[in-house]
Amino acid sequence: MNPDDALPANIFRRQDETPDAEFYHHPRFVTHIDDRAIAAVTQLYREYFPPDSTLLDLMSSWVSHLPPEVLYRRVVGLGMNKAELKANPRLASFVVQDLNQQPALPFADDEFDGAAICVSIDYLTQPVAVLRELARVLRPEAPLVITFSNRCFPSKAIAAWHALDDRGHLALVRQYLTAAGGWHGIELLDRSPLPPGRSDPLFAVVARVAAG
Ligand SMILES: C[S@@+](CC[C@H](N)C(=O)[O-])C[C@H]1O[C@@H](n2cnc3c(N)ncnc32)[C@H](O)[C@@H]1O
Repeated sequence: MNPDDALPANIFRRQDETPDAEFYHHPRFVTHIDDRAIAAVTQLYREYFPPDSTLLDLMSSWVSHLPPEVLYRRVVGLGMNKAELKANPRLASFVVQDLNQQPALPFADDEFDGAAICVSIDYLTQPVAVLRELARVLRPEAPLVITFSNRCFPSKAIAAWHALDDRGHLALVRQYLTAAGGWHGIELLDRSPLPPGRSDPLFAVVARVAAG
């Protein structure tokens, strides 16, 4: 059984149900949140991803927001647009894959020491299956940092994302992780730059892979 079938199917409906490959066909060399919100993402990565680790940037583009002063052993990206991924200076390699068509990740068990999903979790229609896969490809105790703001491509975000506010988004992502299983130490964080309202807000859900 698909693990996402435990959640009501209508929460994953989208205004635009055409294949994601069409929507992401042309590269977008833009940033999706402002500089201060990006700095909050980078600071989280500084705190959770140790230097010299092997990282997976899931739903990646031409920027990974990793701290420029930190050297990682290897960073692998997975996303929808080849030109964006090719232009990303932090990626040692990348995979173009539609996770809504194929949520299984093309990586080995325990391959990564950490993973990130930045401003993208709202586009997944099988998030529980993807998070279950992430628990497989991350080594035990490895951190997963999921960040989001209050902006999105509206036609591609799932119905539940539109129905919920920021707190609801945090709770939804926690529910995904709980449903996936294999995660512990789940933290819901508000890392919005201060003072409020002067930049994009920034929220994070961080979890670690449970041992065994
Ligand atoms: C708003 S952009 C965020 C990109 C990047 N993470 C960032 O922080 O700038 C959404 C990203 O999700 C990826 N994405 C959207 N739908 C996807 C899907 N079905 N499978 C894999 N990646 C997807 C796109 O390639 C795109 O890079």
